[in-house]
Amino acid sequence: MVVSEWVRLCGVDEAPKAGEVREAEAGGVAVCLANVDGRLCALDNVCPHRAGPLGEGWLEGEAVVCPWHSWAFSTTTGVAEAPEKGKVAVFPVKIEGGDVLVKLG
Ligand code: FES
Repeated sequence: MVVSEWVRLCGVDEAPKAGEVREAEAGGVAVCLANVDGRLCALDNVCPHRAGPLGEGWLEGEAVVCPWHSWAFSTTTGVAEAPEKGKVAVFPVKIEGGDVLVKLG
């Protein structure tokens, strides 16, 4: 059985502030890190529409909006808002010792 592990994404001081989104990388995987009212959320950075970089997008409510064609993905479920159909992975996030960690896979 493969056990996924927590990997470091960035320092807490590098994490986005409330209302911000940024790209980060952990274990060779590009991650979209968003701060929704103080809650850090990590999503797959690659938009399922045409591979736009979600970490270069922005927040509308609790959804990350893709900068290319404005599909909006829930930071809780990863599901695209209707009428679009698509979903990105959402990774668990925790803060430990000044680092932001994510659990991939
Ligand atoms: S590539 Fe993201 S909405 Fe088109």
